[in-house]
Amino acid sequence: MDQTNSALWFSIALLFIISVITMIGRHRTAVNPTCNRPPPPVVSGCSLIGILHTFLAKGMRAMIHDHYTQLGSVFTINFFGLKVTFLIGPEVLGHFYQGLESDISLGDVLKFAVPMFGKEVLYGVDIATRNEQTRFYVDALKPSKLRSHVGPMLHEVEDYFSKWKQQGTVDLKGELAKLLMLISSRCLIGREVREKMAKEFYTLFCQLSDNGLCLTSILFPYAPTLANYRRDKARAKLSAILIKIVRSRKSSNQVEQDMLQNLIDSKYSDNRSTTEAEVIGLILNLIFAGTHTSSAASAWTGVCLLRNERFMRAIRDEQKQIIQKYKGHINYDALMEMETLQRCIKEALRMHPPTAANFRKVHKNFVVQTKEGDEYEIPRGHIIASPIEFNSNIPHIYKDPDIYDPDRFGPGREEDKVGGKYSYTAFSGGRHACVGEAYAYMQIKIIWSHLLRNFDLKLVSPYPKTDRSKLALEPKGKIMVRYKRLAA
Ligand code: HEM
Repeated sequence: MDQTNSALWFSIALLFIISVITMIGRHRTAVNPTCNRPPPPVVSGCSLIGILHTFLAKGMRAMIHDHYTQLGSVFTINFFGLKVTFLIGPEVLGHFYQGLESDISLGDVLKFAVPMFGKEVLYGVDIATRNEQTRFYVDALKPSKLRSHVGPMLHEVEDYFSKWKQQGTVDLKGELAKLLMLISSRCLIGREVREKMAKEFYTLFCQLSDNGLCLTSILFPYAPTLANYRRDKARAKLSAILIKIVRSRKSSNQVEQDMLQNLIDSKYSDNRSTTEAEVIGLILNLIFAGTHTSSAASAWTGVCLLRNERFMRAIRDEQKQIIQKYKGHINYDALMEMETLQRCIKEALRMHPPTAANFRKVHKNFVVQTKEGDEYEIPRGHIIASPIEFNSNIPHIYKDPDIYDPDRFGPGREEDKVGGKYSYTAFSGGRHACVGEAYAYMQIKIIWSHLLRNFDLKLVSPYPKTDRSKLALEPKGKIMVRYKRLAA
């Protein structure tokens, strides 16, 4: 199956599951008869063939563009009974990102992930417990804790690139993926895995996510299929590795400075400690959420920079000043001052967000008002979608959106703020905003600060297309880069 087809099947599978959940939901709840505003315009019937054709031939962005220009910023696509309402632009996204989980839920859409991470965590537990578990993440990733990861991240980055020769050609995407896997092993899971079994752990982790996300597993997460068997086997092996580490740390009173330790030490508001199963589910989910997204983000940042000499020079100048100020020693404060680099990463993520769209299920009708003043009532039972990739490229928010221009976030322009609160959603926003954003920026900055200070780099392959066959949208194919070490 080629990549476009697998992306299509993945989308159809996701819609199918959501459809089934929606049907079940419909049986449980009576339809609200009091609709004061009209529902959004609907695309259905024969138009669906056109939608599928555009999606296959030109991608999701083109498909949404056609309907956005014809129908405006709120429209519904009726996929054989499943109604997906697209919300385009920050003006109509307030409730999507701020609404209560009981009104619009993310959990319903992600039920298929329960066998991957366990029924003890996140989408396997009630909302109150899930909120507490999200608090554990937030606490573990707050600035005071993040400071302790700078040293280990720097160590991994320096060690990795010290193995590059004086000059050569590499597939930068592959290199960055390997490096981020090592950083995750060290900073999220800890020393024990990093030093003895990083490769084995990640092989198992890939088996867990590849099988957990394949078509049949998404459609029938509990059916006796080969993919589900492989997923569960990989999960059991990962759990065995992690349980051993957790027990060993507890029995020897060993305390480490990694995310696993933070989760072991976390407590619920009734003072109950996390169980082993909870710690394991939470750490696996964190690796899942953080590693592929960061890997795609670092690769896109590289491609954008290597094609834009002006910004690469601006970053090198900034690096010189910061290195001088901090006397050659990069710490958390130095990273915080790398504003040009931060904007360059942010702009790469605007143009190429690793997450294409966010979805929620509507449990309670709500009204949206478009920027033209039209009001629509979105009924319960609909799936609502915030297509991040499309929303990050709207011309009335971002001037010349197809041009890589990190200065659009700089003083005096701040296009992401002027356009409204939800103009920039690469890291989502509101209730489900990515808890790992600061951590992600830290590791990508450390990588690119090191590369640009130590190497002359040239992109020798063409600007890549987007690979839509994976969960995180990444550059398609290899990114071949010629490097040469700079004189010390
Ligand atoms: C450039 C890298 C990253 C991007 C673009 C990204 C993007 C996102 C997005 C869009 C969501 C929200 C999904 C939704 O609203 O439906 C999310 C959630 C999440 N992210 Fe990230 N992420 C990145 C890195 C990370 C890292 C490094 C970690 C952890 C170390 C992480 C942990 C999480 C977690 C735990 C959630 C779930 C939050 C919740 O459901 O409340 N992410 N991320």
